[in-house]
Amino acid sequence: MSPRNPRQMSLIAFMQAQNCSNYVGSWRHPASMSDFTTPEYYQRIARTLEDGLFDMAFFDDRLAMPDIYGNSHRETVEHGVRAVKMDPSTILMAMACATTRLGLGATYSTTYYEPFHVARLFATLDLMTKGRVAWNVVTSLNDSEAHNFGREEHLEHDLRYDRADEFMEVVLGLWDSWEDGALIVDKANDRFADPDKVHRLDYVGKYFKSKGPLPVPRSAQGNPVILQAGASGRGMSFASRWSDLVFAAYPTLEAGRKTYAAFKKSIAEAERDPDEVKVAPAVKFVVGESEQQAQDKLALAASTARPIDGLALLCEVLNVDFAARPYDKPFTDEELAAQSWHSLRDRVIAVSGKKNPSVRDFVEVSGRGTVDEGPNFVGTPTQVADQMEAWFTGGACDGFVIQALHVPGSYEDFVRLVVPELQRRGLHRTAYSGNTLREHLGLKRPQARDWRRVGKAGTL
Ligand SMILES: Cc1cc2nc3c(=O)[nH]c(=O)nc-3n(C[C@H](O)[C@H](O)[C@H](O)COP(=O)(O)O)c2cc1C
Repeated sequence: MSPRNPRQMSLIAFMQAQNCSNYVGSWRHPASMSDFTTPEYYQRIARTLEDGLFDMAFFDDRLAMPDIYGNSHRETVEHGVRAVKMDPSTILMAMACATTRLGLGATYSTTYYEPFHVARLFATLDLMTKGRVAWNVVTSLNDSEAHNFGREEHLEHDLRYDRADEFMEVVLGLWDSWEDGALIVDKANDRFADPDKVHRLDYVGKYFKSKGPLPVPRSAQGNPVILQAGASGRGMSFASRWSDLVFAAYPTLEAGRKTYAAFKKSIAEAERDPDEVKVAPAVKFVVGESEQQAQDKLALAASTARPIDGLALLCEVLNVDFAARPYDKPFTDEELAAQSWHSLRDRVIAVSGKKNPSVRDFVEVSGRGTVDEGPNFVGTPTQVADQMEAWFTGGACDGFVIQALHVPGSYEDFVRLVVPELQRRGLHRTAYSGNTLREHLGLKRPQARDWRRVGKAGTL
C-alpha cells in the first residue's frame, strides 16, 4: 500500500447475466460483444477485471422479464430490455474457472428462494472458489416474480424485510454448522470429522424452520461476504444489521456525503463497527484519451437509448403498469404507497417537488434507461480519477460499483486508463495482497457464531 494513502478504494464491477449491461442501450452499441449466452463472454470480462486488480465482479438478478408495462413481454423481447436473465451463480463459476483472485458476487432473493438452498449454494461456491464469493441479499420487487413462483402478488415492502431478517438468521445459522477445524480426515483411525464441532440449528421462526446441520464445511474466508442495497429506512436498517458491503445509489457528491454518513450512523446504531462495513455507490464511467474523446463516447452511448427502455424498467421496479395511464395524471397517495421501490419513489417526490408525481415525473426525474440515470464520471484518466478521489476522500464512499455503458469496452477502458492513474495516487492496489474476497475488502475472517455476538443480532 502507498504510504500516502493507506486507505484504498474497493472496486466492484456491476455485472448482469443478460443481453445488456444494466444500461439497456448497451446491447445496441456498435462496440458491444453479443456472445452473452456463452461462458467466454463472462470469462473475457473476468480476466480484464482481474488484470485491473478489482475486488469483485458482482451480478444483480431479477426473477422475471420486465413484462409489467402493457402487461406483456412483447416490447421487452422485441427491444431487448433485459429480456434475457440467466442464473448468476452458474455464470459466477464460469468466471471463477478463468481467474484465481477476483471476488465474485451473485444476487439471490430472500422472498423466492429457501434459506437452506441459498446457504448450501453459496457455501459450496465459496469452497469451489477458495473463499472468493459474496451473496447480494435482495427481497425482490414485483408481481411478475411472484407469478413465476406461483404466488398471487409480491409481498408488501416492509414485510419482505421482516421475512428477510429471519432468512438471514437461518442462512448464517446454517453456515455456523461446521466450526473451523471440524474436518479431521484421518483414514487410519476412521475419524472423518469431530461431531462436537458440527452443530444442528433447530431454527423455528415465524416464516422459516430449519434443522441443520448444513452438510458443507466452512470456507477459506469463513463464510461468504454479505452484500445489500437497501435504501429506504427499513432497507437501510436491514443492510446495516447484516451486510459487509452496502451498495448505494446517489446522484452527487453532496447527496453521497449525507447518505454515506446516514449509513455509517445506522451501522453504529446496529452496534456494529462502521469501519467493518463498506459503502460503495454505483457510478457509470466514460474515459477517453482526451476530454473530447470521452464526450464523444458518452454521446454515442446516449444515442443507443430508446424510450421503451425507461418505461419498461420503471414499471418493473415500481410494480405499476404505466401503459394505460395518461402521461401527466398524478398518482394518488394510495397508488404511491403501493409502489415497490420506496427510495426511488421518494427521490422522484423530492426532486420534482410534487407530492403526487405523474408518469412524466418518474421518467424525467429518474432518467431510467438513459445515461442520465445516476452519476457519470466522464473525461480523461486524470479527470475521472479526480472525481473518484473527491468522492472517496470527501466522505462519500469506500469504493465504487462500476456500471458499464457497453460490454466489455467500458471495463477494458477503465482497466487500461483509470486503474494506472489510481495506482499512481496510491488509491488502488498494485497487487493482490490476499487470496479471499474478505482479504481484498480488508474485512475480518468471521468465526462460526461471531454474528450472534455483535450488535442487535446478539439478542438471538
Ligand atoms: C447497486 C445496486 C444493485 C442492486 N441489485 C439488485 C438486484 O440485483 N435485484 C433486486 O431485486 N434489487 C436490486 N437492487 C435494489 C435494492 O435491493 C433495493 O431494493 C433498492 O435499493 C431499494 O431499496 P429499498 O428496498 O430499501 O426500498 C440494487 C440496488 C443497487 C443500488
